[in-house]
Amino acid sequence: MCGIVGYAGAGSAKAMILSGLRSLEYRGYDSAGIALVRKGKLLVRKESGKLDALESKVGAADFDAQLGIGHTRWATHGAPTRENAHPHTSVDGRIAIVHNGIIENFMQLKQELITKHGIRFQSETDSEVIAHLIGVHYRGDLVGALRAAAKRMHGAYAVAVVCADEPDQIVAIRKDAPLVAGICEEGGLLASDIPALLKYTRDVYLIENDEIVIVTKGAVQIFDEEMTRMNRTKTHIDWDAQAAEKGGYEHFMIKEINEEPMGVRETLRHRLDANGELLLDDLEFTKEELDAIDRIYIVACGTASHAGLVGKPVIEKYARIPVEVDLSSEFRYRNPIVTERTLVICISQSGETSDTLEALREAKRRGAKILSIVNVVGSSVARASDHVFYTWAGPEIAVASTKAYTTQIVSLYLIALHMGRLRGTVKEAESKKLVGELLEAPDLIAKVIKDEKRIMELAKAHYKKEKIFFVGRGSDVATAQEASLKLKEITYINSFAIAAGELKHGTIALITRDVLFFAVATQNYLYEKMLSNIEEMKARQAQVVAVAKKGDKRISQAADDTFFFPDCSDEVAPIVAIIFFQMFAYHVAKLRGRNIDQPRNLAKSVTVE
Ligand code: G6P
Repeated sequence: MCGIVGYAGAGSAKAMILSGLRSLEYRGYDSAGIALVRKGKLLVRKESGKLDALESKVGAADFDAQLGIGHTRWATHGAPTRENAHPHTSVDGRIAIVHNGIIENFMQLKQELITKHGIRFQSETDSEVIAHLIGVHYRGDLVGALRAAAKRMHGAYAVAVVCADEPDQIVAIRKDAPLVAGICEEGGLLASDIPALLKYTRDVYLIENDEIVIVTKGAVQIFDEEMTRMNRTKTHIDWDAQAAEKGGYEHFMIKEINEEPMGVRETLRHRLDANGELLLDDLEFTKEELDAIDRIYIVACGTASHAGLVGKPVIEKYARIPVEVDLSSEFRYRNPIVTERTLVICISQSGETSDTLEALREAKRRGAKILSIVNVVGSSVARASDHVFYTWAGPEIAVASTKAYTTQIVSLYLIALHMGRLRGTVKEAESKKLVGELLEAPDLIAKVIKDEKRIMELAKAHYKKEKIFFVGRGSDVATAQEASLKLKEITYINSFAIAAGELKHGTIALITRDVLFFAVATQNYLYEKMLSNIEEMKARQAQVVAVAKKGDKRISQAADDTFFFPDCSDEVAPIVAIIFFQMFAYHVAKLRGRNIDQPRNLAKSVTVE
């Protein structure tokens, strides 16, 4: 995710800001920029790509100053180009801003700035409106102009601003996006994340929502909305830099699991208006186009393919178009029946997976339309597609995918509803119902995460097992497959997943006392069937742990042990239940002393065949 750094001091602002940005590199970014105030002028440089590119651009000695701001951007609105990189400047080039978050009403603000003030925009970002808003309100008082601009902004933001006419201060504001500040021998510091400050100070001011902070060479001053000075005590940080990158978590994987409520919430927020109406018009599907589609293939690898399996029945239910899910590595070589009437949905967190990219190209050659669900903006899959739906999971660093998975499922659901609404195959009330349920998903996910103690208990009871299998029915087959993949990837325990109804056709022969079976039982309409499968396994002396909705007494009596997750609809259940399995795998891996974030033989993004 984007990173913000600011410095006001006696030293080299360029060096301090670049060093701060470097310590935020782990968050992932695709462009970077810097704005410095020097001799009454604003110097701005930005580059797409990594910090080295920026560094070589600002290398010259005359590109230095004692005050400035910097930014690393993880693209959201607009591709990762130099134009879209921050800082953004006001029309007269005297004010520069960097921004993390999203300005939800930026379209409306942009329109207003164009028509009322004749402003010509330089980028496709939502953030540029902030620079212009401050610019049009500026009357020699940067704090006042920022406050006036913030009154117009809806969404989440941490914004830092510098002005050529006020060369001694950085002014910043935050709402629902992190911001910290600190003072050290070198000067005053500001950042979106603690790791950027740790090299210089361990005592930081945590800025609260709607607060304004003014950073100068010798002071950090914090004010509330009414400009009343706040007395904030410093927070001492005793994590080391590495732990700080992980936000205090031991591993990226558990950090990313904890970010799932936010990822799901953000993905929904970008695609629903205040009334819960879908905002997917940018996919530019017409009813005629959709009606012409007679088949959908979902093509993906690994975790992303499991998200596809969860999405398939939901698209079929709401859009009434047949869906097939295929692995990219199979699809690309199997001479699939693809015509101009085929829609191929490619799912990829990284957008760089070679098999998926080649499957996409193959489908395109055969005339299919491509819609991709991607987490990394401007990635190869995104660029090669006709339509792109971005997930808002934020950068995923642990090799084992977690938050990308839940946001991919949510994306597929929203696409299913959008298609259904356009085609007239889903009624408004039905669509509203699912949207309402999805909006509750972040809280339900958070509840499972809170149940960590219970999950650790189960991990402790079973971490020495050498075989752990997963069974389920309906979309629980996909959950079982994803649960098994998580376990294999990071614990190296022998595991597979199978549709529960298939057990009797062979796999039942594997049951012995030392095999643990997880029975995923989240689907109400398959409840009785799943219950008999559990009984079938128990009758053969298997050990069975069920994962079921809260209050399910019958299942808990049939199984040896049960993990209860909060009651929710069948459609939302796969998003909620998988959290348990991700955390179970994590804790088993920890007990086994595995390299959780970078398991053996695996890569985060597989760009070779
Ligand atoms: C690798 C990763 C998996 C991921 C798969 C697909 O194997 O280790 O976690 O699910 O690639 O990656 P993608 O970026 O296309 O979603």
